[in-house]
Amino acid sequence: MQSYMAGRDMITTQEWTKGELETVFDVAFDLKRKRALGESHALLRDKVLAMLFFFSSTRTRVSFEAGMAQLGGHAQFIDHRTTQISHGDTGKEIGEIIGRYCDGIAIRQCDWGIGNSYIRGVADNCRVPVLNMQCDFYHPFQALADMMTIFERFGRDVRGKTINVSYAYASSYQKPMSAPQSLILMASRWGMNVRLTRPPEFKIMPEIEEQVKENARKSGGSFEVLDDFDAGFKGADIVYPKSWGAMLTTTDDKESAEIGKKYTDWITDSRRMALANDHAIYMHCLPADRNIEVTDEVIDGPQSAVYDEAENRLHVQKAVMALTMR
Ligand code: CP
Repeated sequence: MQSYMAGRDMITTQEWTKGELETVFDVAFDLKRKRALGESHALLRDKVLAMLFFFSSTRTRVSFEAGMAQLGGHAQFIDHRTTQISHGDTGKEIGEIIGRYCDGIAIRQCDWGIGNSYIRGVADNCRVPVLNMQCDFYHPFQALADMMTIFERFGRDVRGKTINVSYAYASSYQKPMSAPQSLILMASRWGMNVRLTRPPEFKIMPEIEEQVKENARKSGGSFEVLDDFDAGFKGADIVYPKSWGAMLTTTDDKESAEIGKKYTDWITDSRRMALANDHAIYMHCLPADRNIEVTDEVIDGPQSAVYDEAENRLHVQKAVMALTMR
């Protein structure tokens, strides 16, 4: 068990060893049990987390803020529009200054080509841990919550289980590709059969695919890429169909939305779920476009794990904060 993670940033899980991530899961399960029993676990008393948002959020904001309170500390919500960031405070200044006030800085910056670089710039100039609440490339806390949910349903040894991470159509906005990229990076380290299903215009970053291949080689898992929505469901134990934008094809959101309209039939319904294994679970990081990405019947049905998955955001985030911000 790896036990010393004080001061570490969490920008992508790929930069943490498998042993360190196992510790995160052990602590997350312990904190979940403590919360269920009403046992106090004020591991970060007097500590303050700054939460800087450049993009909207429901789950991330509420779970980080609740998590810090449950750990005995405090979380500050900071909107980039209502601070001097909008008048020129740089990432260096945010890292230097907020790092002197607070014990951790969590950031959500999802702008394509900007988010990850901004977060790394803050981290380079910061004396306290920097936590990635989602960028253009990675959503590490979502992937941790996803894996915790998979462990709850299938046990901690998930070697040989097939996970289908798939594009789905959505009309609301061009969603980041960070959640699917982070999830396939994680699943491939636990020996799973990782399947990525997407139309040709919705490719993910080639360097992520290369890392997934290497993870799968080391873990004894596998990685395949499909472009047929139905085929992705066949024989899967876990299905994770969600939308993302065609950023590798165009950086114009309107053009990406137009391309997506070719795939309005990429919706998860009960016929598609029946193609997966009988015990298969449906996962989605939320928010989902109901009856566009997924039917109510599936997301509210017995195979859906979406609310456990959302809950587990709280537990994994508390685990990483308790391990890094002490
Ligand atoms: N899944 C997720 O990150 O949700 P929010 O965008 O609501 O934070």
